[in-house]
Amino acid sequence: MKLKILVGTMTSTADYVAQAIQMDCADLVGEIEVLLMDGLDISVFDEDALYLICSATYGSGDVPDNARHLYESMDTQAKFLGHVRYGVIALGDSTYMQTFCFGGKKFDERLSGLGAKRVGEVWCHNASEGTMPETEGTAWCREWLVQAVAAAPAATV
Ligand SMILES: Cc1cc2nc3c(=O)[nH]c(=O)nc-3n(C[C@H](O)[C@H](O)[C@H](O)COP(=O)(O)O)c2cc1C
Repeated sequence: MKLKILVGTMTSTADYVAQAIQMDCADLVGEIEVLLMDGLDISVFDEDALYLICSATYGSGDVPDNARHLYESMDTQAKFLGHVRYGVIALGDSTYMQTFCFGGKKFDERLSGLGAKRVGEVWCHNASEGTMPETEGTAWCREWLVQAVAAAPAATV
């Protein structure tokens, strides 16, 4: 099975998290591909893979600039995504109380609205806690992948 990590970022933290996962979790899944969201649209979900959204939050609870086209295409080119299973890493900062981790949460809402099935809970990293998102994100992802692979149809593992 292939894991595709889609990265929404402005200052690269989400990319570092995705790269750490790519290195650390290679033993749990057949292949891990990391893709910045720049230039992507809803067709990225056409492939038979497991998906991990890894997105920061900006503005008033918006997705990062490089994620906007993909996010909007899930509205303008909306289609049923019932074949998609996904997880979410949402990066944020609790000083933005009203919009904490909304970038990742918005992707979750839109994906589930199109029929995609989330595996596990949305995992939020709070920049104000001073913990390393790469270390914590990788530990979360190892547990998440075990769950996601176990739930996958046998032929795709
Ligand atoms: C200008 C600005 C706006 C932000 N707005 C939010 C926000 O609304 N909600 C939130 O939870 N975090 C917000 N954050 C925090 C970032 O999402 C967080 O620091 C994240 O780890 C950055 O990831 P990146 O380096 O991949 O871009 C904001 C950060 C900045 C600099």
